[in-house]
Amino acid sequence: MPITSFRERLRALPVLPDGLPAWEVEELADLPVRPHQLFEQWFDETVAAGATGPHAMTLSTSDGHGAVRARTVILKDLTAGGWWFAGHASSPKGLDLAADPRAALTFLWRETGRQVRVAGTVTSHPDDGAADFRARPDVSRAAGLVDRQSQVLGSLGEHRAAWAEALDRVRADPDLVAPTWTAWRLDPIEVEFWQSGTGTGQTRVRYRADEPTHDATRTTWTKELLWP
Ligand SMILES: Cc1cc2nc3c(=O)[nH]c(=O)nc-3n(C[C@H](O)[C@H](O)[C@H](O)COP(=O)(O)O)c2cc1C
Repeated sequence: MPITSFRERLRALPVLPDGLPAWEVEELADLPVRPHQLFEQWFDETVAAGATGPHAMTLSTSDGHGAVRARTVILKDLTAGGWWFAGHASSPKGLDLAADPRAALTFLWRETGRQVRVAGTVTSHPDDGAADFRARPDVSRAAGLVDRQSQVLGSLGEHRAAWAEALDRVRADPDLVAPTWTAWRLDPIEVEFWQSGTGTGQTRVRYRADEPTHDATRTTWTKELLWP
């Protein structure tokens, strides 16, 4: 029988590949002490599995009055402190983070059947943002120089003209940095690792900080299995 409705077409789609191995966690103590280590290990394995854009992640923020927004951003680094990303401080995400620094990151890695959720508090680092900006290719610097992100645009021509003008400026001055560009670091309170195993269901492990401080050198994380 032909599949016709959208609902049926959705149901017919595979979500994850076949043949995913089960994540057997015998002893939580055998897992890395800090979630950063397990994240890096899972990330490298996902890259080795041929993933496209594993460093693209969903950033969820709130405006301080309960309105929630999410969008994709690129992971720029992972340090002892936390997970780094960059963008305009003047954008909706930047205004949200200024109003309420609590945020969440979600990674979906289909190729390895994994999801990682990171929740915590974000701090802004304009100097690191400037370094990030300078390291971008000319076309990306030009795009970044055209601020007003997420404001209403009258026509595509208007943007193209602004972009062309910005490209001339960045080519003339390699040190030119968009004044609103910043880097943010999310220091985690909680990191959850979710692994699907074909035929075995899911295994979930959460790392939880004992108290809500953001100590980059913290080694005391509580590790817990979660019901899937
Ligand atoms: C794959 C991908 C990567 C992106 N990376 C970034 C990024 O690193 N920084 C950024 O500010 N926006 C990035 N964007 C654009 C954002 O998703 C979003 O459209 C933009 O930042 C405006 O968001 P806001 O209105 O919530 O501030 C990316 C979008 C996609 C699809």
